[in-house]
Amino acid sequence: MMLNAAANKLLRGKSIAAQVFSNGLADRLFSSSSSSRKLDGKVAVITGAASGIGEATAKEFVRNGAKVIIADIQDDLGRAVAAELGADAASYTHCDVTVEKDVAAAVDLAVARHGRLDVVYSNAGVIGAPAPASLAALDLDEYDRVMAVNARSMLACVKHAARVMAPRRAGCILCTASTAAVLGGVASPVYSMSKAAIVGMVRAVARQLARDGVRVNAISPHAIPTPMALGIIAETFPAATAEEVRRMVTREMQELEGTSLEVEDVARAAVFLASDEAKFVTGHNLVVDGGFTVGKDLLRNPPSST
Ligand SMILES: NC(=O)c1ccc[n+]([C@@H]2O[C@H](COP(=O)([O-])OP(=O)(O)OC[C@H]3O[C@@H](n4cnc5c(N)ncnc54)[C@H](O)[C@@H]3O)[C@@H](O)[C@H]2O)c1
Repeated sequence: MMLNAAANKLLRGKSIAAQVFSNGLADRLFSSSSSSRKLDGKVAVITGAASGIGEATAKEFVRNGAKVIIADIQDDLGRAVAAELGADAASYTHCDVTVEKDVAAAVDLAVARHGRLDVVYSNAGVIGAPAPASLAALDLDEYDRVMAVNARSMLACVKHAARVMAPRRAGCILCTASTAAVLGGVASPVYSMSKAAIVGMVRAVARQLARDGVRVNAISPHAIPTPMALGIIAETFPAATAEEVRRMVTREMQELEGTSLEVEDVARAAVFLASDEAKFVTGHNLVVDGGFTVGKDLLRNPPSST
């Protein structure tokens, strides 16, 4: 009764529809804004955001209300992604993650442009050369190159994110590792080491950052048909057609039936970790692999059961 009376008083003189719309309730009920925008007001730097997982994450972040700095070395692609997202929501900066001052500058750009920095997603990476047929043929210069882009760069991102976030006692750092960090044999030894180093780094810095109020987590995707994954499979199997290469990545390398891993799946995992919904999640490695790394067959060649 009392509620009815209050509602009648509120609605007096206006139609219900007018009330609903003037209160912004319609937005909350019928559109993707408000409560579904998990990163409203947040500012993020995303490395490697001109392509693949980083590009999808930049788009998903903006869809969720964030402003993003797209940091990459592919200038034309990076500028195009930023233009698509709009000048208010996204800007591009040339940033070679192997150069510490570039990483520092990308972080400083976020603060200069938007007055704050909430998320650094260290995602840029390279796959390197295919695994050599014999370990005796390993090229240690290749190790240095891949480690510089995939692992050292992540520490540079942590360092410069912490420089800005720790004084504010808030912030979130994300790093793209891989299922190659969890299981041997998924990729070349060099790439696998570089990705395992990222998971190790997250564990190594998480406690200290926690005391500064900053969270740090890794995301480990399995194979997704981005230019990187398609490129290395095409190089490894030169006789395969483009369609066969795509099928290898999207089906033959996967366990989960009925669906396939897409860049948006990783982007949504990043949105969750960057959002306040994950406010107590830190030092974690979120594996996005449809069960690829959870188990192994007991027998290599099981005898027929019939
Ligand atoms: N695609 C997969 O199957 C897969 C699986 C697990 C992990 N990963 C990881 O995901 C991340 C993104 O890869 P992707 O699959 O989207 O590939 P991608 O090739 O589409 O994107 C990688 C991006 O990183 C950028 N980049 C490379 N070197 C850089 C540098 N020195 N400085 C700045 N940017 C640089 C590239 O220009 C590119 O835009 C990588 O760390 C990769 O190792 C990919």
